[in-house]
Amino acid sequence: MAYFFEEPSHTFAEYLLVPGYTSAECIPASVSLKTPVVRYKKGEECPLTMNIPLVSAVMQSVSDDRMAIALAKEGGISFIYGSQTIENQAAMVARVKSYKAGFVTSDSNIKPDQPLTDAVALKEKTGHSTIAVTEDGTANGKLCGIITSRDYRINHTPADAKVKDYMTPFANLVTGQDGITLSEANELIWNHKLNSLPIIDKNGNLKYMVFRKDYASHQEHPLELLDDKHRYIVGAGINTRDYMERVPALLAAGVDVMTLDSSEGFTEWQRRALHDIHEKWPNAKVGAGNVVDAEGFNFLAEAGADFVKIGIGGGSICITREQKGIGRGQATATIEVAKARDEYFKKTGIYVPICSDGGIVHDYHMTLALAMGADFCMLGRYFARFDESPTNKLMVNGSYVKEYWGEGSNRARNWQRYDMGGASKLSFEEGVDSYVPYAGSLHDNVTMSMSKVRHTMCNCGVLTIPELQEKAKITLVSQASLTEGSAHDVIVKTTSIQS
Ligand code: IMP
Repeated sequence: MAYFFEEPSHTFAEYLLVPGYTSAECIPASVSLKTPVVRYKKGEECPLTMNIPLVSAVMQSVSDDRMAIALAKEGGISFIYGSQTIENQAAMVARVKSYKAGFVTSDSNIKPDQPLTDAVALKEKTGHSTIAVTEDGTANGKLCGIITSRDYRINHTPADAKVKDYMTPFANLVTGQDGITLSEANELIWNHKLNSLPIIDKNGNLKYMVFRKDYASHQEHPLELLDDKHRYIVGAGINTRDYMERVPALLAAGVDVMTLDSSEGFTEWQRRALHDIHEKWPNAKVGAGNVVDAEGFNFLAEAGADFVKIGIGGGSICITREQKGIGRGQATATIEVAKARDEYFKKTGIYVPICSDGGIVHDYHMTLALAMGADFCMLGRYFARFDESPTNKLMVNGSYVKEYWGEGSNRARNWQRYDMGGASKLSFEEGVDSYVPYAGSLHDNVTMSMSKVRHTMCNCGVLTIPELQEKAKITLVSQASLTEGSAHDVIVKTTSIQS
């Protein structure tokens, strides 16, 4: 006879946190959201941690290199989507790793002999008032000078004026040498009262520009996630088919962590992939999933997964439950897997972090997922709404929206994610193509969400995620208390689209 679970499975929306005692030390500014990403042994330090417990989903409409840089600046990790060629995915990873925080490749460049009017036109086009003057007019040509909008008054210059007559020539420029740190560059900027500092190599070729305003932005991101060479940390999704080619390309590009991306991970394919990858590249970090119960977790932990993802059918664009009738309420799945993770730790001394993937609708769902035992959360819809997601922003019925589609939709055609062996094709859709309300910049939204998580943790009387997992008091709520929980029995004056 089939096995029947005793209890129905529940979603995050059915739970609330009950406050604990809040001491005077328990203030949001003192809360640490640091969390482990990959397995580690008892008594040892986790080799990869994040400063906020958020990762962005392995999806075409969510995680590319731009998203990865924006999220790493806030302290989290993007998993760059794997449903693209190995070359393109590795190139995205390489772009994140070569992005130097505060060092930018000059996007406005001109030759010294060009007419000054070209510089004016370029400024209008790019909106940038600092233009690098290089011998060949490229971003990495030999630096001849810098021209800014303060160097000329357009109505007071002859028609045949040339850039070289108005620029600050190389001889009068303060420059930094390639290899200089951002703090050293900042020292030069402050000591010489500069707005920008060109960085050149030993042959005098322009490498980067450092702008005073960008340094300020760097200072605004105290939680940014960097590797030991001060490069942003980045993840990538892989599948169980082409990993022997994809993994080395991603590692060569500098990827820090990977995850097997599949709608269902309790499989022989994932066990084999984890085994083969770890045998060939023992230092590679690879998460696996998705699972929704203790059995699935134990299987992947034993198979060597560096972390385990939880969630089937809970994603906002997901129709797996309708199509195949498989899945489990995300809260119940997280609670059961967290228990299994703790037992596994007790038994083996190995801590395998778990990630709650999909179904986060409100910010408090993040806090609940963490309180229920998740070490971090993976989100798709949440990040798809931001400027930094790779999709189009458009106006629909008078409101700005962004496109968001599932990996199992016809649009993404990521058949590897739903692969059960057999032909290389998507047999039927497990995801939809949709719009999500546009929400502005990632920085503003993540700052607000993390602030809510910190405040809630203080309500619970805790300052760290492990403490939250240990001390949180969680209650299931009735349908009537859910109604009680939002504005009720009043006529609300304004309405807005809430995330
Ligand atoms: P969301 O944060 O609720 O939008 O869920 C995002 C998660 O949904 C992803 O991290 C995936 O685990 C999952 N997902 C992505 N594409 C699909 C799909 O087409 N069908 C089902 N689940 C999907």
